[in-house]
Amino acid sequence: MAEWLKSGWRNKPRIQMPDYVDEDALKAVEAQLASYPPLVFAGEARRLKDKLGAAARGEAFLLQGGDCAESFEQFSADGIRDTFKVMLQMAMVLTYGAKVPVVKVGRMAGQFAKPRSAPTEVVDGVELPSYRGDIINELAFTSAARIPDPRKMLQAYTQAAATLNLLRAFSTGGYADVHQVHAWTLGFVEGEKAAKYRDMANRISDALDFMNSAGVNPVTSASLKTVDFYTSHESLLLEYEEALTRIDSTSGKWLAGSGHMLWIGDRTRQPDGAHVEFLSGVQNPIGLKCGPTTTAEDLKVLLNKLNPDNEEGRLTLIARFGAGTVGEHLPRLIKTVQQEGANVLWSCDPMHGNTIKSATGYKTRPFDSVLREVREFFAVHKAEGTVPGGVHFEMTGQDVTECTGGVRAVTEEDLSDRYHTACDPRLNASQSLELAFLVAEELSSLREQRQAQAV
Ligand code: PEP
Ligand code: CO
Repeated sequence: MAEWLKSGWRNKPRIQMPDYVDEDALKAVEAQLASYPPLVFAGEARRLKDKLGAAARGEAFLLQGGDCAESFEQFSADGIRDTFKVMLQMAMVLTYGAKVPVVKVGRMAGQFAKPRSAPTEVVDGVELPSYRGDIINELAFTSAARIPDPRKMLQAYTQAAATLNLLRAFSTGGYADVHQVHAWTLGFVEGEKAAKYRDMANRISDALDFMNSAGVNPVTSASLKTVDFYTSHESLLLEYEEALTRIDSTSGKWLAGSGHMLWIGDRTRQPDGAHVEFLSGVQNPIGLKCGPTTTAEDLKVLLNKLNPDNEEGRLTLIARFGAGTVGEHLPRLIKTVQQEGANVLWSCDPMHGNTIKSATGYKTRPFDSVLREVREFFAVHKAEGTVPGGVHFEMTGQDVTECTGGVRAVTEEDLSDRYHTACDPRLNASQSLELAFLVAEELSSLREQRQAQAV
């Protein structure tokens, strides 16, 4: 087999990537990025891989979430802090339900490039190239704003570095806020669901109080004070990824230095395409989105290309079929994985198969469909005896109105109030927490079922 080169993707068909007009500017940016330090280190990526391996065996659970697209304009310390905080709150709820460690991975510090369903966009009869994320062009609807500018990669690198710096500080600094569990459900309006969630929050709170009285202070104890938090993004803009890819001197293997975990999107998973070629050669843990159009034949080839040594924790299959269709697609892909004897971690992305246009014109996601897809994902794994090992979703710690529904119901009319996403609609803090409660319920019922089978 020919040796893998970090530039090897350049000889493969590429889609969803910009055509830069200024070749010289592009080359200068690539050279500059290649001279900068990587953002993450190989030891961290290996540690994450081990944890994901545990999640694949049901000994841990993956919680992966964050922005659809990070934005230059909305970049702020408060935004990062709030998303981090909600992720930790969700993790605490999940730990309680699953009784296993939760592996926390942000769609943060590099989630800038976006695949689009159409190359152009028409507004009031004017057609312009689509917005492809702040690392490529600008959201403003003018022809100048939509020209891809390679210099934006440098700004993305700087923002990713600053984001990671803050995340690393939060991760080691202790985060007292996440121990005020009863306060989290204050905004939940009355109702059967809200009461159920409050009840679980109270039980978690009791557990923390108990630990406190037993002399384990959850705020100051070393094991609860530092959290492991990893970064991830879609590996779409390969010029950026290649420039940050380095040899790890310990193992002699290549590491994509732009983030701990990288994934291949549903639109760029062609077995002979540029994106698969690039990720096949780096040692990071990687994700592969699987959608309704993923065929058994393609999946077979991808399993072998992306994880030739069948390493545990290397490959996470992120299922994103849409509510109502999980039963049609997930069992056939699980069968392919079993036939190949492949080690994979199954995670559920209940967002990307459930995007609709509201009557008021906004791109939205009904929260009920999101929850339904999660339930279907768990039901299939229960029936198949396989491990539902994680969830992947788009959220923000801010109180936005982008997805409809939830216990603090967001209506279609509310969407215009605080609709801030640069791309897909995200769950707000309250909806994210509600999702965590649902997943915790699913996990504890699965645990009970498996314990009953074991006796
Ligand atoms: C995404 O995760 O933002 C995304 C574009 O997902 P998918 O590739 O599954 O459509
Ligand atoms: Co998205």
